[in-house]
Amino acid sequence: MTDVERIATKPIAGQKPGTSGLRKKTRVFMQPGYLENFVQSIWNGIGGISGKTLVVGGDGRFFNDAAIQTILKMAAASGAAKVIVGQNGFLSTPAASNLIRVRGADGGVILSASHNPGGPDEDFGIKYNMANGGPAPEGVTAAIFAATEIIDSYDILNAPDADLAQIGSRAFGPMQLEVVDPVTDYATLMEKLFDFNAIRALLQSGFRVRFDAMHAITGPYALEILERRLGAAPGSVVNAVPSPDFGGGHPDPNPVWAKDLMDAMYGADAPDFGAASDGDGDRNMIVGKGAYVTPSDSLAVLAANAHLAPGYAAGLKGVARSMPTSCAVDRVAEARGMPCFATPTGWKFFGNLLDAGMATLCGEESAGTGSDHVREKDGLWAVLLWLNILAVKKQSVAAVMAEHWAEFGRTYYSRHDYEAIDSTVANTLVGDLKARLADLPGQTFAGLTVESAEDFSYTDPVDGSVSAGQGVQIRFEGGARVVLRLSGTGTEGATLRVYLERFDPADFSQDPRQALAPVIAATQEIAGIVERTGRTEPDVIT
Ligand code: G1P
Ligand code: ZN
Repeated sequence: MTDVERIATKPIAGQKPGTSGLRKKTRVFMQPGYLENFVQSIWNGIGGISGKTLVVGGDGRFFNDAAIQTILKMAAASGAAKVIVGQNGFLSTPAASNLIRVRGADGGVILSASHNPGGPDEDFGIKYNMANGGPAPEGVTAAIFAATEIIDSYDILNAPDADLAQIGSRAFGPMQLEVVDPVTDYATLMEKLFDFNAIRALLQSGFRVRFDAMHAITGPYALEILERRLGAAPGSVVNAVPSPDFGGGHPDPNPVWAKDLMDAMYGADAPDFGAASDGDGDRNMIVGKGAYVTPSDSLAVLAANAHLAPGYAAGLKGVARSMPTSCAVDRVAEARGMPCFATPTGWKFFGNLLDAGMATLCGEESAGTGSDHVREKDGLWAVLLWLNILAVKKQSVAAVMAEHWAEFGRTYYSRHDYEAIDSTVANTLVGDLKARLADLPGQTFAGLTVESAEDFSYTDPVDGSVSAGQGVQIRFEGGARVVLRLSGTGTEGATLRVYLERFDPADFSQDPRQALAPVIAATQEIAGIVERTGRTEPDVIT
């Protein structure tokens, strides 16, 4: 009864996975053969999927449903033994990572463009995760890309669409298809890691939370965990129903795109704790009553306090941050005598450290925090760890921050994004800067003297693989730093990211923009962003 068709095809240019898989405009993915070529190239790049078990799911954005049907038919046609898929094709990225691990699957395909908007004219993406539940490392994505360049056919099952609404196992062509509730396994994992009784008691004491799911995938997860299992007041989870275009918004948890939440948290009668997550549920934003916590600070606070949660009571083996993430966590690691690793941007670089037990906690400035419980960053996990810490310390978010800075000093931090700039202009800007790096040390710009300047290269301490050209890092005397790199997830032109930080051991109450003014001025003198891009202001400041 197997009805496999082999369709002739040709390589399609530009199917090169970036920071987190292949991300393009949705209409690009909807072109005939585009998705099929890439999916077949995944199968080819990983050495085939015959007899393998895969997890498949996505964040529910526009085209998620159609893409999943194609992937199921292609998995069946290429001999996969089994595919486990979230009901209606839904799985948050961390839940997919967990499912791969708890089911002992060989890998998984995750459909998402993370925090980018969704819709026919917005963004779509696909990535492959390994048996450890984490994003494919560079060697594997390179093999997938190589496969896209020589593909000449793909195999697909000629069958009606699979029913993904009914939970349970059934045959789909020659393959086994299991449809699972997307939340259950994930919620079970959270109950193991955190003291749900302590958090429940906190929530019953009158402590109010507001979780903004931003019309994205964490809605059902947050309703189940925060409201049903932990007893948060009904209505604590807002924008809880996932929609294919995220309610027309940017499902990006930062003060710009989660403005409603910021307004609520800084307004009259603000709740005690606010949080948001992104399109696919791996990012998080934390904000107390009148107290926004930068992701870099959040990572540092979690590193300093994780032992207060049962899952981390034994302490942390080490911490890791992406290179552009602020050095706030480094200071915690130093004080606590644990190793701290700086990796290139992208969660895949944490995988080996987590697998090898060299790091327990890791994070990125881009609102990603996670631990060795899965191999993706995890938005709700970060929220629950914060709540667990607050429940134990019986302090407000603002008080926790004040205490943290008093102990470790404050690292003022901000990221400036220049979006959709001309690719040639962006490449020339970064290229010219890289060519001058050797001359910079000792020179003074806007009053700041350069201590060191490098094009960041990372040697993985576990497998020795080298990732070069990962961004320009310039350190100034006195603990200031700027990092410049081009985004690997943008879908339009180039995005220049400028990461600014300044350490202050004693003065914690400055306006971050003012505290960073000297670093911003020095960066402008060094890189000439205004002259080269014609932009006088960044498009997004976070
Ligand atoms: C961005 C973030 C990075 C994150 C990635 C995927 O990548 O900066 O930290 O891992 O999205 O969520 P970028 O566009 O900077 O390459
Ligand atoms: Zn995401």
